[in-house]
This record gives sequence, C-alpha cells and structure tokens, in this order.
Amino acid sequence: MLTLKTSDLAPTDIQNYLQHSIAPRPICFASTIDKEGNVNLSPYSFFNLFSSNPPVLVFSPARRVRDNTIKHTLENVMDVSEVVINIVDYNILQQMSLTSCEYPKGVNEFEKAGFTEQKATLVQPPMVKESKIKFECKVIQIIPLGTEGGAGNLVLAEILMMHFDDSILNPEKKIDQTKLDLVARLGGNWYTRANASTIFEVEKPNMKLGIGFDSLPLSIKQSKFLTGNELAQLANVSEIPQIDPTFTNDKLKNIIQYYSVSPDEMESELHKYAKDLLNEGKVAEAWQILLASV
Ligand SMILES: Cc1cc2nc3c(=O)[nH]c(=O)nc-3n(C[C@H](O)[C@H](O)[C@H](O)COP(=O)(O)O)c2cc1C
Repeated sequence: MLTLKTSDLAPTDIQNYLQHSIAPRPICFASTIDKEGNVNLSPYSFFNLFSSNPPVLVFSPARRVRDNTIKHTLENVMDVSEVVINIVDYNILQQMSLTSCEYPKGVNEFEKAGFTEQKATLVQPPMVKESKIKFECKVIQIIPLGTEGGAGNLVLAEILMMHFDDSILNPEKKIDQTKLDLVARLGGNWYTRANASTIFEVEKPNMKLGIGFDSLPLSIKQSKFLTGNELAQLANVSEIPQIDPTFTNDKLKNIIQYYSVSPDEMESELHKYAKDLLNEGKVAEAWQILLASV
C-alpha cells in the first residue's frame, strides 16, 4: 500500500493521484460571456449536482498551475453571472476536447470547435445546439478555495431552465438512461462512456431495512465462494427467508443426492450454485439453495 501525505507532494502529483481516483467525473460544458458579449465555451470535469431544491450545479475552474492565472470562464462569470451548462455525449466528445485549448481571451470556442450557437431563453450565453441536454443557470455564488496555482474556484449555478432532446425521452417525457451515451473523464487522457451496453441497475436497499451482514448465518457469511457484493444481496432481505417446501430445483436435488456422503463438498457446491444465481439477480432462489446448506 502506497501511503502519501499531501503536504509532502507537489500540486501536480496530488492532482494526478486525485484525478485518477475521483473518477469518472461528469463534464460541465460551460458557455459564458464577458462584459462585451464575447462568448466562451470550455469543459470542466470538477463538476456535479449538489442540490435539487433549489437545483444547483457546481463546477470549478482552477487557477492555472503553470502561471497562477485564472480561466476565462471564471473571469466571465465574475463579470456576467450567467452560464449555460451543456451535457457532453460521445457524439461531441472530440469537439468538446478541442474547446479546452487555451485560446486567447475573446476567441469563441463555438467557432473553433464547429459548434452551433443556440439562443437561450432566460440567460445571455448561447447553448450548444449539438448537446442533447442543456441547463440555463444563474451564478449564485463563487467560492475561491485558495490563491496558489491549482486552487479551485467553486461556481455555484442555480438551474432556471432545462432542455432535453426528444431522442433521449421515453413516452412519459422522462429521460431514458439507455438512450444517452454520456462520457466522463478519468485520470490522464482516459475517458469512459455510459451507454446501453455499459450501464446496469442495482436494486435500491430494502425499504424495510436489510438484515445486514451481521445477521447472515455464519456458514454463509464465512463462505469461501461468496464475495462482498454477493453477500450484500443476501443481506438486503428484511428477514431470513423460510425454507419453501414448494421450491423444486433439479440442480439442488442432484447436488444433495450426489454429495450426501460429503457435507463439506455439498456446502461448497451449494454456495457455488447460489453464487451463479445471485449473479443472475435471483436472490430468492439463491436463498433457497443456501438454506439447504445451513
Ligand atoms: C474534459 C475536460 C475537463 C476539464 N476540467 C477542468 C476542470 O474541472 N477545471 C479546470 O480548471 N480545467 C479543466 N479543464 C481544462 C479547461 O477546459 C481549459 O483550461 C480551458 O482552456 C479553459 O478555458 P477558458 O480559459 O477559456 O475558460 C478540462 C479540460 C477537459 C478537456
């Protein structure tokens, strides 16, 4: 285990460890304007949702480590407290990356990266037409976190208006997560995608309170075959299930018959079978198999 004290490290090393660890990070693609109305568009992955009532997004344009100057986006929101936050999907990933070039102040990255300006309804900065989700925001607070290069500046942006492309909505006009192809940033040059082929669902913890690991029968909790993820599915039931006399299963019967002379092996086989069932999301069946071994 490598153990590091942050005060012993250079800011670039801290940044490197943190950007690889705190990942993947969603990307705030921020459109802002200066006092003269010049448009700026830049991506920020120090970004997230921090409140839904009021709806508040926060992103952080940091002071440049190189020369301790501040980003044009930050200058702009200090002058005109409005921002459009556009969400980045795979289709616009390379164009988004291009906007992060350090173009001189006043250069419009919409033009540099081939994006189309779309008029917002309540704020002055334009939206990115090619983005499937856009949030018109007013900047409610800016919190500097330091004065040295690398110091973040939290920009708290309250969402006033939201725009969602029809192509990502279901018939109830809610977002269909499988229809998005979101991208997020990791460490170095790494990115990741969240689309129908990579996302998965995890059932919310039981509303009636899961029994927890400490209430699992010892032989299950100490299983050589079940991982923490698998035990957590078992521990999410509100009470230990009863043996169901109507539960029939050929594989269970075979294991019991075949290993009747070797209880240890029988337990191993039952645990391995329960593991397979848990990985198919069949928690109730897995419990029935395991109950045959306790
Ligand atoms: C995906 C991505 C995420 C980024 N995230 C941040 C960030 O969170 N904070 C930051 O200061 N710079 C970040 N950058 C770098 C800025 O986008 C870059 O410095 C940009 O040129 C700033 O533009 P501006 O000076 O016009 O505002 C990121 C770049 C990319 C490509």
